[in-house]
Amino acid sequence: MSYLRVEHVEKSFGENRVLKDISFSLPKGSFLSLLGPSGCGKTTMLKIIVGLESPDKGRVFLGGRELTPKPTEQRNIGMMFQNYALFPNMTVARNIAYGLKIRKRSQAEIDEKVDWALKLVKLEGRDNDRVTLMSGGQQQRVALARALVIQPDMLLLDEPLSALDRKIRVEMQYEIRSIQRQVGITTVFVTHDQEEALTMSDAVILMNDGRIEQWDDPWTMYNQPASVFASGFIGKANILDGRLVEKNGLLTVEGPGWSFPVNERDGFKPGDAVTVAIRGEHFHIDREPGPGAVPFKIKDTVFTGSVRKINGFMGADEVQLVALNSSEAAVYAPGQELTVSTRPQYVHYYARVETR
Ligand SMILES: Nc1ncnc2c1ncn2[C@@H]1O[C@H](COP(=O)(O)OP(=O)(O)OP(=O)(O)O)[C@@H](O)[C@H]1O
Ligand SMILES: [Mg+2]
Repeated sequence: MSYLRVEHVEKSFGENRVLKDISFSLPKGSFLSLLGPSGCGKTTMLKIIVGLESPDKGRVFLGGRELTPKPTEQRNIGMMFQNYALFPNMTVARNIAYGLKIRKRSQAEIDEKVDWALKLVKLEGRDNDRVTLMSGGQQQRVALARALVIQPDMLLLDEPLSALDRKIRVEMQYEIRSIQRQVGITTVFVTHDQEEALTMSDAVILMNDGRIEQWDDPWTMYNQPASVFASGFIGKANILDGRLVEKNGLLTVEGPGWSFPVNERDGFKPGDAVTVAIRGEHFHIDREPGPGAVPFKIKDTVFTGSVRKINGFMGADEVQLVALNSSEAAVYAPGQELTVSTRPQYVHYYARVETR
């Protein structure tokens, strides 16, 4: 059962077509991320849901009621932005109470709800603090409390964490998700950080240039990228030119000096030119040549802590392998010759697109 439903939304600013026939839906209580590069239309989509922009075409429904003709203040949607937009001259409690005050609620109700919201975001006892003296993470908690205190029908978050340090950011990702679950509020979260989207969401919509590139759960998004763009944007994949051939009765993709068996896909046959995407962590690295293994020569390696990235040549193509940091990986050195293999489900291929 869908709760939020976006149907065939189009939006242009002058000649610039920012949203091109966008349709999606999400069930009540679920958490959806809109993910995509800068300028792909994420914020515009949120503004259309909350009513800060109106679509040229298409409609938005919430709980079966059409939102599109209603003004923002009748939509009862909570929104939180990257720049917290808190009132700097007000205390924490007055910032949180703001939405209740303009709705003319009684002081008793305001006190009760502000207490509830403070507890929810773990800021009990901070009622009288000045928001300007708080850390970025704490200010975002205040902003979240302020968005939730009005008990909205839905929550929209536009890159709320992008100004925070990585460590606080990861903490807040977890906090936001656990508060969202606790309150059970249907949420749309905008980010251009793929890891954040995968970590937090029930479903992810990957947008590219005003269109939906892929709409899936995080696992499928990562493991079955629907396009070359998706395989490059979600995680990092090696993108190679190849050709489908039949080898020993198996459908195989081959490039200059390498070949791997692949799963069959509708619409593809031996002879087709394809673009291939294989993630660096989906290669099995070995010192000995095994069945189906391809020679690989190390150019250089990059140590990042948990993993070692290994750049080198697989046949004539330059690729990057990713190996968990281990005593084995520690001795990989430039010039060393290894072999690599992979499994058919890790070799994604698409109709050939020009990537270079
Ligand atoms: N009010 C406006 N008037 C004219 N153009 C606009 C307006 N708002 C957005 N745009 C344009 O629409 C496109 C999409 O903008 P939008 O803010 O939705 O992107 P975004 O995906 O949120 O990007 P970012 O990740 O940088 O926030 C951009 O090209 C932007 O310049
Ligand atoms: Mg934006």
